[in-house]
Amino acid sequence: MSRTQRGTAHGPERGGGEHARVRRSGLFRTKTVEESIRDTEEPEHALKKSLSALDLTVFGVGVVIGTGIFVLTGKIAKETAGPAVALSFVTAGLVCALAALCYAEFASTVPVAGSAYTFSYASLGELPAWIIGWDLILELALGCAVVAVGWSGYVRSLLDTAGVHLPQGLSGTHEGTFGFDLLACVLVLVLTAVLVVGVKLSSRVTSVIVAVKVTVVLLVIVAGAFFISGANYQPFIPPSKATEGSDGLAAPLSQLIFGFTPANFGIMGIFAAAAVVFFAFIGFDIVATAAEETRLPQRDVPRGILGSLAICTVLYVAVSIVVTGMQKYSELSTDAPLADAFKSVGHPFWAGLISFGAAVGLTSVCMILLLGQSRVFFAMSRDGLLPKIFSQVHPRFGTPYRSTIALGAVVAVVAGFTSIDELAELVNIGTLFAFVVVAIGVVILRRTRPDLPRSFRTPLVPFVPALSVLASLWLMLNLPAETWLRFGIWMLVGFVVYFTYGRSRSRMNRPGGRNAATGPVGGGPGQGS
Ligand code: ALA
Repeated sequence: MSRTQRGTAHGPERGGGEHARVRRSGLFRTKTVEESIRDTEEPEHALKKSLSALDLTVFGVGVVIGTGIFVLTGKIAKETAGPAVALSFVTAGLVCALAALCYAEFASTVPVAGSAYTFSYASLGELPAWIIGWDLILELALGCAVVAVGWSGYVRSLLDTAGVHLPQGLSGTHEGTFGFDLLACVLVLVLTAVLVVGVKLSSRVTSVIVAVKVTVVLLVIVAGAFFISGANYQPFIPPSKATEGSDGLAAPLSQLIFGFTPANFGIMGIFAAAAVVFFAFIGFDIVATAAEETRLPQRDVPRGILGSLAICTVLYVAVSIVVTGMQKYSELSTDAPLADAFKSVGHPFWAGLISFGAAVGLTSVCMILLLGQSRVFFAMSRDGLLPKIFSQVHPRFGTPYRSTIALGAVVAVVAGFTSIDELAELVNIGTLFAFVVVAIGVVILRRTRPDLPRSFRTPLVPFVPALSVLASLWLMLNLPAETWLRFGIWMLVGFVVYFTYGRSRSRMNRPGGRNAATGPVGGGPGQGS
């Protein structure tokens, strides 16, 4: 049944009519779902609708499997959780599954670019939408930079094997020695160019890359299984051990709040590890950002989101069990743990192959994170909250080329100058915060717009969204206090930008445009007070 048929059965369906208790003024003014959809139909802002459920699942797997499993598994098993890192992956996967159920309902109800940003605009209001959009820019831009730096490490390792050595000054920052990361910077610039040329092209490139990456992951699982030694799982959950030098701002906020002695391993170590390996799941939500470019968003977006999440969770748990079974957790490498586990059992050829696959795989992660962030930026600009030039679509390629180029350039510079460690946790907190907002948004939208057609409905509302909020908050609390501080500063900058720019230039202020088309719901121009 079409959107129009269903909408009519329940009352006025264009413009939000009586159902939409739409606020037109103040910080919580909302844009109706119909307005969001109609914006996508304006010719100068319309993106090409060319993606299928399979494309989205490939996108999802393409962005989700990356630095998290290829790099963080070893570091976290070694320092925080031992072989029980597999349980950390399960924990983080469950938190994501709860969030995915909420994302899927929102994405199937509001199939437009911008992900959680758009969803929030339709349910919570303009200020919360701005907060979430600003937060998503942090997640996607820094996430992309982190992955680009990880990619650069793998490529340098392959180049070293081939006898090609980059000068220290162009190899990134290591252990206090400053260096510009040339490879990471170039990767981001090249991928930006690919995205400007078009989503379909990048989707094809992604398909090939994802196939290589998944093959390598399966290779680790299948080939590695032959080298598992049961003794390496003893103990599976290493006993809790007090950590030195992890007090003050470096300690997880939960430990500071509850007065625990900072410790690694044990049961608490599993949760602390989950808050970090959560990075490995980041990306499934980005599938929702491509909703506007999907042929049948109501059906395909939920399939894409849940499908890619399920595939990745199974692969992560399997990889972590195999790798910690191949090598004692305390001996795992922190740079290239999957490859080095094969070296440790005397198979350097497999190790090389895995390094190659990891380098290829991280390319797709970087590209899709770039895609996601340019779409969020595009959507915010289209709504007038960011300068308008960023929402013009390329006349030939049909892509938001200005936002793609602008953000690509910034990320390239950040990737060139930043080390991974400082940023991954910041990315995690930003993403978890977005999960909280989306889960709350599902409940609010059910109340304010019960009439909207939802091809996917989150089960057991409000229980599942409430659980999603609590689970996300719990992981956030397991992140260091300094991460909270950095996140607070970023959000503060966002408030300044909103109150000095976005609030007065918002499209919601326009006299004719949106409100005339939508019907006289609550007021006219200049009400952004
Ligand atoms: N989930 C992505 C990764 O692990 C961001 O690299």
